Amino acid sequence: MDLQNFEQSLLALQQSAIDELKGVSRREDALQIKNRYLGKKGQVQAQMSVLRELPNEQRRDAGRISNSTKQAIEQAFQKVMSDIAQAELDAKLASEALDVTLPARKPKLHRSHPLVQTEQELIALFAEMGFAVAQGPEIEKDYYNFEALNFPADHPARDMQDTFMIDQQGLLRTHTSPVQIRTMLAYKPPVQIIAPGRVYRVDDDPTHSPVFHQIEGLLVDVGVTMADLKGTLRHFIDRCFGKQTPMRLRPSFFPFTEPSAEVDIGCIFCAQKGCRVCSQTGWLEILGSGMVDPNVFKSCGIDPERYTGFAFGLGVERIAMLKYQISDIRLLFQNDVRFLEQFS
Ligand code: DAH
Repeated sequence: MDLQNFEQSLLALQQSAIDELKGVSRREDALQIKNRYLGKKGQVQAQMSVLRELPNEQRRDAGRISNSTKQAIEQAFQKVMSDIAQAELDAKLASEALDVTLPARKPKLHRSHPLVQTEQELIALFAEMGFAVAQGPEIEKDYYNFEALNFPADHPARDMQDTFMIDQQGLLRTHTSPVQIRTMLAYKPPVQIIAPGRVYRVDDDPTHSPVFHQIEGLLVDVGVTMADLKGTLRHFIDRCFGKQTPMRLRPSFFPFTEPSAEVDIGCIFCAQKGCRVCSQTGWLEILGSGMVDPNVFKSCGIDPERYTGFAFGLGVERIAMLKYQISDIRLLFQNDVRFLEQFS
C-alpha cells in the first residue's frame, strides 16, 4: 500500500458515500449511511488502519487526505439533512396555505328584534311630539296597579285583567297605567309622558301572551280636552299607519278614564272592505284611551277642578303584528331565526 493507493481508495469511498446520500429523504437513512462510512467501525475508519503501513514521511499527507474525505462526507450528510428540513418546511407551508386575496366571509350582524324595533319606533314618534319617557316597576303594588287607578277592591272591573298575584299586596303589573300614578305623585303638572314596558296577564293563545308590552301615554295640564287627545292620536296614526288611514273613537269603559274611548283604525289589510283580520268589520282596534278620571287625580293630590288630562295605552305586540302581518303572537317570543331573519 502506498500513498497513491490510499488516496484512491479514500476518494472512491468518498464518492460512493456522496452518491448514496444523494436524494435520501429520511433522516434515519442518511444517518445510517453516514455511520456506515464515518462511524467507529465504518469503512473510512477501516482504511485508517492501513496508515501504519505507510512510511513515516507520507503519514502527514495521508492524514490530510483522510480528513478531507471525512469532511466531504460530513458536508454531503449535512446538505441532505438540510434538504430534508427544507422539504418538510415547504410541505408544511403548502398545507397551511392561506389565500389572502379571497373575499372575506360576511359575518352575521346583529339586528334588533321586530318587537324592539316597533317599540323604538313608537317611542321615537311620541318623543317627537314632546312626550318624555317614564318608567315603573314590573313587580307592582295592588295600590298603584288598581286602587289608585279607581279600581276599588272587589270591583268587577278587576276581572278585565287576569292578574298574576304575588301576595296580598304584590302582583305583576297587568298594564303600564300604574306609571301614571307614580309620575303624578312625583311631578306636578304639566306632565307629558309615555311609559313603555313589560306587563303580565294570565292569558295564552294566538293573540295573547302571558307577558307582553304596552306603551302608556299621559298628558296633564290646564285646559286639556278630548280634542287634544283626538288630535294627538290622529297625528300618531298618520305617522304610524299613513295619513289616509281612517280613525274612529268608540265609547268604552276604563275605571281610570271618563269618558273612555277605544280607538280603531280602518283595516289596513282590506281597505275596509271586510276581511278575516278585521272580522269583516273593516275596523281594527289599536288602543284604549280617555280623559283622566277625577278620582285618579285625587289619588295623586292633583286638583281635578284645576287640571284635566288625557291618557292612552297601546299594545306593542298588536301594532307589530298589524305592521308585519304576523298572525300568531307566539312567533314574537320563540326566537326562531327563520322568523327573525325576515326583519332586517
Ligand atoms: N290600561 C289599559 C289596559 O291595559 C289600557 C288603557 C286604556 C290605558 C285607557 C289608558 C287608557 O291609559 O286611558 O287595558
